[in-house]
Amino acid sequence: MPLDITILVGTMTGTAQLVAQELELRIDDSDNRAQARLMDNLDAGVFAGGGLFLICTSTYGQGDVPDNAKQLYESLHSARPDLTRVRYGVIALGDRTYAETFCNGGRRFDRILTELGATRIGEVLLHDASAGTMPEEVAAEWIDGWVALCHGRIDASAGA
Ligand SMILES: Cc1cc2nc3c(=O)[nH]c(=O)nc-3n(C[C@H](O)[C@H](O)[C@H](O)COP(=O)(O)O)c2cc1C
Repeated sequence: MPLDITILVGTMTGTAQLVAQELELRIDDSDNRAQARLMDNLDAGVFAGGGLFLICTSTYGQGDVPDNAKQLYESLHSARPDLTRVRYGVIALGDRTYAETFCNGGRRFDRILTELGATRIGEVLLHDASAGTMPEEVAAEWIDGWVALCHGRIDASAGA
């Protein structure tokens, strides 16, 4: 069954967007569809109807989500929709220099989505900007495994 993946991007200076664009190109083929969308102006309604999502977000402030992700993040807390039809993965960008709040932006989305009944597929990918690796390269290596896991889970639940 082809996958239809919405990549939701939380970013301050464009790194997460670059990662998402790379992944969009890599995933989008004859088998699967992927569309990257900045989180700007989105609210919890983006998850209505369920589906497969990849959260790709950085971390700012005191371990906060970036400004363009705040409305969506806060709306999940206030509206508290039932997300049992949502499957998701998380790519969390951060920097271990911020030891106490490393990758908290992505971890915060992971926590609230699980709390609202969504099911995470795979482990959260944590990228450390101080490690000297390029996030788009690390993510490109990770994504094939994640897509394979999604196929396994979604094909199984579709009875394929
Ligand atoms: C002012 C500022 C605050 C940051 N705070 C954190 C933080 O609390 N925790 C963390 O893991 N990374 C933190 N970072 C690192 C960013 O999340 C990381 O560099 C990320 O790759 C930036 O992605 P973006 O360009 O998509 O926003 C901070 C970076 C800046 C410039």
